[in-house]
Amino acid sequence: MTSTDTSANPASPDPAASPDAAPVMLALHQTTLGGPEVLRLTELPRPAPGPGEILVAVHAAGLNPTDFKHRALSIFLPPPPLTLGWDVSGTIVQTGFGVTLFRPGDEVFGMLPYPHGAGSHAEYVTGPARAFAVKPAGIDHIQAAALPLAALTAWQALVDTADLRAGQRVLIHAAAGGVGHLAVQLAKERGAHVTGTASAPKHDFLRELGADACVDHRTEDFTDTAERYDVVLDALGGETATRSVGVLRPGGVVVSLLPGDADTGAAAEKAGVRAVGLLVEHDRAGMRAIAELVERGRLRAHVSGTFPLAEGARAHAQGETGRTTGKLVVTVR
Ligand SMILES: NC(=O)c1ccc[n+]([C@@H]2O[C@H](COP(=O)([O-])OP(=O)(O)OC[C@H]3O[C@@H](n4cnc5c(N)ncnc54)[C@H](OP(=O)(O)O)[C@@H]3O)[C@@H](O)[C@H]2O)c1
Repeated sequence: MTSTDTSANPASPDPAASPDAAPVMLALHQTTLGGPEVLRLTELPRPAPGPGEILVAVHAAGLNPTDFKHRALSIFLPPPPLTLGWDVSGTIVQTGFGVTLFRPGDEVFGMLPYPHGAGSHAEYVTGPARAFAVKPAGIDHIQAAALPLAALTAWQALVDTADLRAGQRVLIHAAAGGVGHLAVQLAKERGAHVTGTASAPKHDFLRELGADACVDHRTEDFTDTAERYDVVLDALGGETATRSVGVLRPGGVVVSLLPGDADTGAAAEKAGVRAVGLLVEHDRAGMRAIAELVERGRLRAHVSGTFPLAEGARAHAQGETGRTTGKLVVTVR
C-alpha cells in the first residue's frame, strides 16, 4: 500500500464526540466591519474537516495586523459575517478523508491559507493538513501560536525570496514587531550582519535577539549612512520602500510586506536592484523549517501579551496601536 492509498485511511472518528456533545463552538465573530467593538463571542456550528483537512481544537491563536485590518475593511475577504485568525496551535480532533500526515491527538501549529482560510479565533478550526507541522515539544501552545504567520513571512522574505547568505548585510524595518523580531533571529541564524530599526527603548530587545546595529526611526534617518545592504526587509511600504532602494548594493533586493509608492519600481530599475512585494502563503516546508529552528533553540517568539478569546476585542485594540513588541496571542483553552 502506498501513502496515496487512502482506502485504509477514511475520515477518523472524533474522540471528543459523545452523544451529548453539541456540534457548536464559540468564536470571535463579526457581522459588520468596524472597530474592535464589532467582535462578539458567538456560538457557531463547529466546522467539519473536508477531504485533506484536519479539525483542530484551538489552544491558542496568534494575532496579526491583518486581523485588525480585515476586521475594519474588506481587503482580501468578502464582507462579514467573518471569523478572523490565521495562526493556530492546538490538538487534532479529527482528520478528513485522505489525510496521511497526522492523527487525532497530534499537537500541531500552522498558518491557515492566506487570505481565504481564516477562522482560528474560535474553539475549533479546519484547514488543510499540509498547512501544519508538528508543534515543537519544547514550547507551549501560546509560544507556538505566536509563530506561524510572522515567522513564515520572515522565512519567505529572507530565505525563499532574498536567498540571504552568510556574510551579507540586511536591514530589517520594524525589527521589534511580530515579523521583525523573528526576522532578526532568522537572519542571524543564516550568518548575516543585521541592522534593525525600532524606537530607542526597544534597542536592548533587538540586541538580545542578536542585532548588530540599531537605528532609532524616531530620531535617525536610515538612509543617512554610508552602509549598503544586500537585503532590506520592509514591513512599512510606501515611501520607505522607495527610500530603501537607495541603501542597497547593486544587485540587492528590498522585500516589502506592504505596497511601495508610485516611485518604487522606477527607483529600483534605475539603481539596478530588485523591489518585490511579498504576500505570505501557507507553507508546510516553511513550518517544518521553523519548527526545526525552534527545536534547536535558534528561534523563539517573544509574546508580550495574551488575551482570552472573550477579550479578543481588547487584543485588537492593543495590537492596532502599532507599538507591539513581539507578538500578542489569543488563548482559547
Ligand atoms: N505581506 C504580508 O504577507 C505580510 C505578512 C505579515 C505582516 N505584514 C504587514 O507588515 C507589517 C508589520 O507586521 P508585524 O506583525 O510585524 O506588525 P507589528 O507587530 O504590529 O509591528 C509593531 C512594531 O512596528 C514598529 N514600528 C512602527 N512604526 C515603525 C517605523 N516607522 N519604523 C520602525 N518600526 C516601526 C513598532 O516599533 P516602535 O514602537 O519602536 O516604533 C512595533 O514594535 C504590518 O503592516 C502587517 O500587516 C504583511
